[in-house]
Amino acid sequence: MAALIDKLEHAPARLICGRHDNRPDALLEILHEVQTAEGWLSDDALRTIADALNISRAEIHGVVSFYHDYKRRESAKHCIKLCRAEACQAVGAEALAAHAEKKWNAPTSGNGADNQIELEAVYCLGNCALGPSAMIDGELFGRVTPERLDALAEQSIEKAERG
Ligand code: FES
Repeated sequence: MAALIDKLEHAPARLICGRHDNRPDALLEILHEVQTAEGWLSDDALRTIADALNISRAEIHGVVSFYHDYKRRESAKHCIKLCRAEACQAVGAEALAAHAEKKWNAPTSGNGADNQIELEAVYCLGNCALGPSAMIDGELFGRVTPERLDALAEQSIEKAERG
């Protein structure tokens, strides 16, 4: 039983909760800090936070699912955000997303099998006049065709590998 409890304990989350005196009203800050430290919010981290703050797991899951910025899966090395809002849809965003899903074998809002590429659907990147729009590792691009997306992703991966 002790082994099971040890396995469920998430040390970084416990430490961050302690820094906030295990206050339930600090839940959002704690979640943010754990995500910044770990890159995502694992089940173990959420269980540890719920235990430390003495709140229910249902409560914590409600908060995490309400805010889109909290990540419930490990991040891939590269993130491609594809705009799926109306202006981009009108100029080919759906075909672009279908191409990306097939190319990287990743569902929209999911990771590819090798965890290299993460696809995320977003609803407006503020670049509507130049759609379809995409953001690759934080860099915004417009008029993105499937061929251009491949080339931009390739460049971004190469750039990251060069450091
Ligand atoms: S609708 Fe795609 S950037 Fe605004």
